[in-house]
Amino acid sequence: MNTIVSASILSADVCRLGEELDRIKSSGCDHVHFDVMDGVFVPNISYGIPVLAGVRKRTDMFIDVHLMITDPLKYIGVFADNGADMISFHLESESDPEAVLREIKSRGKKAGIALKPATPAEKVFPYIELADMVLVMTVEPGFGGQGFIYEMQDKIKEIRAYAHKVKPELHIQVDGGINAETAALVRAAGADILVAGSYLFKADDMSAAAQSMR
Ligand code: DX5
Ligand code: ZN
Repeated sequence: MNTIVSASILSADVCRLGEELDRIKSSGCDHVHFDVMDGVFVPNISYGIPVLAGVRKRTDMFIDVHLMITDPLKYIGVFADNGADMISFHLESESDPEAVLREIKSRGKKAGIALKPATPAEKVFPYIELADMVLVMTVEPGFGGQGFIYEMQDKIKEIRAYAHKVKPELHIQVDGGINAETAALVRAAGADILVAGSYLFKADDMSAAAQSMR
């Protein structure tokens, strides 16, 4: 599988978001990763629907919306209508995972299901056939700039081995603490969509940083 580099705009300069989106594109990143936090599911609040609508107007890039919210089912429609190309939500949220996956697919969008670090791989197995992507969080969701949790390599391997039997085309995304070194580890474990925030935005040369993740 080709590696897809997804730039998390949580680390972007929000006052210059348009220019940051241009920089992501000209640096050769593949996706824009848009983190939504409700202050309840995670102990932080980011941004939401009006910002997504603005990002959608400004860029033609693929927008990957990562919902870290308590009741994702309630909000799939509005995120789908405001520019998301893919929507991922947490298995640990209060919504029924199968209902959320069906709702995302019914809107014609790609569907991802995310796992916090403490959630075992096998919890997601019943949903893999319905999903386009599984997101293995490699830090605790809520903040950028944290250190990669090395134990997550085994979880990626377990999900890749299971997907190999039931859904070989499944994408496995990783999010948190990804840089050139950890990118090589997660690719070897079976991940193909690599999200990075601080590594890309703090780099002097974003193109070189994106390239180093492939
Ligand atoms: C954290 C977010 C991430 C975050 C990653 O909860 O889901 O997308 O931006 O940031 P880095 O790459 O800095 O760990
Ligand atoms: Zn994220």
